[in-house]
Amino acid sequence: MSVTSEPFGSTAAGHPVERYTLRAGSVEARVITYGATLVALRAPDRSGTMADVVLGFDSLAPYLRHHPYLGSLVGRFANRIAGGRFSLDGASYQLPVNNGPNHLHGGPGGFHAVLWQAEAGDDAVRLRYHSPDGEQGYPGALDVSVTYTLGADGALRLDYEARCDRATILNLTNHAYFNLAGSGNILGHKLQISADHFLPVDATLIPTGELRPVEGTPLDFRAPTPIGARINADEEQLRQAGGYDHCYVLNHGGDLGVIVARAVDPLSGRVLEVRTTQPGVQFYSGNFLDGSLRGRGGQPYARHCAFCLETQHFPDSPNQPAFPSTVLRPGEIYRHSTIYRLTAESPS
Ligand code: BGC
Repeated sequence: MSVTSEPFGSTAAGHPVERYTLRAGSVEARVITYGATLVALRAPDRSGTMADVVLGFDSLAPYLRHHPYLGSLVGRFANRIAGGRFSLDGASYQLPVNNGPNHLHGGPGGFHAVLWQAEAGDDAVRLRYHSPDGEQGYPGALDVSVTYTLGADGALRLDYEARCDRATILNLTNHAYFNLAGSGNILGHKLQISADHFLPVDATLIPTGELRPVEGTPLDFRAPTPIGARINADEEQLRQAGGYDHCYVLNHGGDLGVIVARAVDPLSGRVLEVRTTQPGVQFYSGNFLDGSLRGRGGQPYARHCAFCLETQHFPDSPNQPAFPSTVLRPGEIYRHSTIYRLTAESPS
């Protein structure tokens, strides 16, 4: 197990950015202090050949420009808030509207676009950020940290912690885009999500409030199914999102001991297992990637070249009283954990 660091360029304001490399067994994870971003995750296939299984860039410059949150730490509120508006304790707040009519992923100056302070441990790196009162329109000052720990068993664990000085809302996630083959598209990856329900969305991708059974729909991933098998089905939910872009209500939400999602690339044998304390996971099939973004090694990132399993509270929770609360109050400690474990399996 080892943790090393090196310079990774500097921000427009001249602040140095560091890249931390965590190594354990045959897995390697790289995190930069800009956006607490996971920039690389290398793992062996069934014959020991290494590949990077997350989308990323080779240098800092593209991370500093607007990009679709490749590996970003997303906050204060991951996913969408309708109209960017919410009320809390009788006061109304307007957040920046940066995705059609809605607020997305904490706003343009969210946690993906700030510099975090890093502290390395033996097998981990902890990143901290102080978000001032009113930042991106959110009430209260917030002290937040995320610790990335790499285990010898191929598990990359993310532990989130936050405290506020005034009531606020919070929904943190990591926005890694996975491709277990390391290139090509993910339509042949088999995915399983332990969720009997998903949250249907309107045309602007805001949940309608309904918890809809997956049974009998192309959104049913209770049994392992290739992502591409039904992605073009003539179904309203898939049509309006251009594929999968839905929050699944986890059957075992909150239990870090349970594998809530599992993806397998049958060709390489690489397997990703997801566990989390969160109640939901946003399954996004890279629908809005269109090949115009060039990533690692100059690769064009095309539609469906990667998928995200963003563990989180439900989108638009501040406006949906029936959803679990995302309010954090002074004196409370926000704590969540997610584990992404990479292994390889032999052909069945
Ligand atoms: C959202 C997508 C969005 C993507 C990149 C995902 O979390 O669900 O709709 O396009 O992030 O911003």
